[in-house]
Amino acid sequence: MTNLLITYYSSYGHMFKMAQAARDAAAEHDDYQVKLRKIPELEAAEKAMSSQDPYLAAQKEQAEITEVSLDDLEWADGIVWGIPTRFGNMPAQVKQFIDTAGGLWAEGKLEDKATGIMSSTNTIHGGQESTILTSMMPLLHFGMIYVGSTYGQNPELSQDKIQGGSPYGPSTIAGSDGSKSPTEGDLKMAGRLAKRVARVAKGINLTK
Ligand SMILES: Cc1cc2nc3c(=O)[nH]c(=O)nc-3n(C[C@H](O)[C@H](O)[C@H](O)COP(=O)(O)O)c2cc1C
Repeated sequence: MTNLLITYYSSYGHMFKMAQAARDAAAEHDDYQVKLRKIPELEAAEKAMSSQDPYLAAQKEQAEITEVSLDDLEWADGIVWGIPTRFGNMPAQVKQFIDTAGGLWAEGKLEDKATGIMSSTNTIHGGQESTILTSMMPLLHFGMIYVGSTYGQNPELSQDKIQGGSPYGPSTIAGSDGSKSPTEGDLKMAGRLAKRVARVAKGINLTK
């Protein structure tokens, strides 16, 4: 079996939808064992956003999702991250979790795991690509092998429709008021990334 972890943080539910699409696509394959895990919320963020109905509704939807642990990172052969944009960069919630993985890094336990990143922003040029590119850095420090989204497998990348996605990874546009949902193309790209990460992870396992 190839173990695939889909882990994400989502304030308003967009990244959660992309993560679910990634999980569902990979789970179609009998030889992939797939876990969906959320990155824990931070107290300061919860305090800042808990007066917002869309935040409360999205958190309620995710109430049953187990929080990710360092054991999940170690368990995984491949990891897909759902990382929404905060000022063109990763949210503190994700940074906080990644920074707890120093022990695994020190022991080389994350090396040679396949990985890919999905993102979201409110606006079209609000930083999806910069978030994915900068979020790669700690993953490369961990020794992971980065997997992007290919033009060949993702015809959406060559379209001029308003949707997410780049060679760096899938993404979605939430809209300036957060009311848009991921497009069918965005969700398909999320699924294809999960399957590609799992394929690469499986190949690495076979050559170990
Ligand atoms: C503190 C903060 C900073 C944000 N910075 C950006 C930004 O730089 N560009 C942008 O387009 N959207 C920005 N957003 C909007 C989020 O990226 C958007 O709400 C998120 O991608 C939606 O995903 P989610 O529903 O999974 O939380 C920001 C939101 C917050 C709360």
